[in-house]
Amino acid sequence: MSFDLVVKHANLPDGRRDMDIGLSGGRITAIETGISAEAGETIDATGSFVSPPFIDPHFHMDATLSLGLPRMNLSGTLLEGIALWGELKPLLTREALVERAVRYCDLAASQGLLAIRSHVDVSDPRLVTAEALLEVRDRVRGYIDLQLVAFPQDGYFRSPGAAELLERALDMGVDIVGGIPHFERTMEDGAKSVAALCRIAAERGLRVDMHCDETDDPMSRHVETLAAETVRHGLKGRVAGSHLTSMHSMDNYYVSKLIPLIAEAEIDVIPNPLINITLQGRHDTYPKRRGMTRVPELMAAGINVAFGHDCVMDPWYSLGSGDMLEVAHMAVHVAQMTSRDAIRSCFDAVTVNSAKAMGLDDYGLEVGKAADLVVLQARDPIEAIRLKANRLAVVKAGRVIARSERRQSRLTLPDRDATIIDPASYAPREG
Ligand code: FE2
Repeated sequence: MSFDLVVKHANLPDGRRDMDIGLSGGRITAIETGISAEAGETIDATGSFVSPPFIDPHFHMDATLSLGLPRMNLSGTLLEGIALWGELKPLLTREALVERAVRYCDLAASQGLLAIRSHVDVSDPRLVTAEALLEVRDRVRGYIDLQLVAFPQDGYFRSPGAAELLERALDMGVDIVGGIPHFERTMEDGAKSVAALCRIAAERGLRVDMHCDETDDPMSRHVETLAAETVRHGLKGRVAGSHLTSMHSMDNYYVSKLIPLIAEAEIDVIPNPLINITLQGRHDTYPKRRGMTRVPELMAAGINVAFGHDCVMDPWYSLGSGDMLEVAHMAVHVAQMTSRDAIRSCFDAVTVNSAKAMGLDDYGLEVGKAADLVVLQARDPIEAIRLKANRLAVVKAGRVIARSERRQSRLTLPDRDATIIDPASYAPREG
């Protein structure tokens, strides 16, 4: 037996150490110790952690890298972001959208982020965003699995023509039905929009991923309707609720009823830690709410929780770098998920849980799955998050598509010999 590529001396997510991974024909074909068969190429991981790729289940690729166009968000709020995006929309061109999106995909792939679900604003009658991102989906197919959500940013009922535009975008080939019930004019319209959008998804055989309750208003309870409509339309396991930030501020008694409803409907929950911590709580003085949904409690109820990046250098967020470890790092802090197991859960939330939310069946570091993986300059998932670890190699379909030099510094002090500092060499002391 021979391999196209063998990764030697890898630490795996399941805790196995010093394993070799053989890849051939675009598949993982062996995971064992001491592979000695011939290989077209060999990577010596030297005890580094090897993970399946990072997956971002919530992004806005039509807005990414537009920071400063046509101006900056001065208040930093979600609503000014939406208004600013509204100013930019008439100025968008297909060429500029494609150029920015592909540049972002290149950055993402270099960081081992190989699947992204992007919402696409379908409020503009030209549908230039949908046209552009459908083109991008094809252009990046060889290295990024891009899913697109038809997202009526200005409201399914609130924005004239949105209902028709959303259906047109789906006809054009956009994959998933989106929504924004908390932005409709009334609570009643919000609930009606959830029902209408779930019906469309059921009729077309599509998944649903809704921006839902992205507000500090504890009475914003559209996820309750989302759970009910999911069950009514037989969409269990095919619906995601993105953000759900109002849960942060809700009454505990009500949440004790709500979480089992979300679990029953098998809804995937997608918080966006970097964005939730910056956009929520903006109307508070002190104490200021964090505004991220109740991640540990949702996970404890057996609900699949996956973290999204949401924004990079756009009207809502001026930072970000396509690094899902930065997303997980923020989640650890915001949710105070600091136990060893909880930090590992945050790593899962940017890898396996995200793949599950996106329905990626071919994903995982197992024999028979797609030959996609990332070699990290860290020894395990906890170190990977702590260091936002360097990606030493990114492998897609059995081919190395990105490589980085080991990150280290040469420390020179007057009273000592020069020392090489490798951040990944600082391990916790056991016991
Ligand atoms: Fe979003």
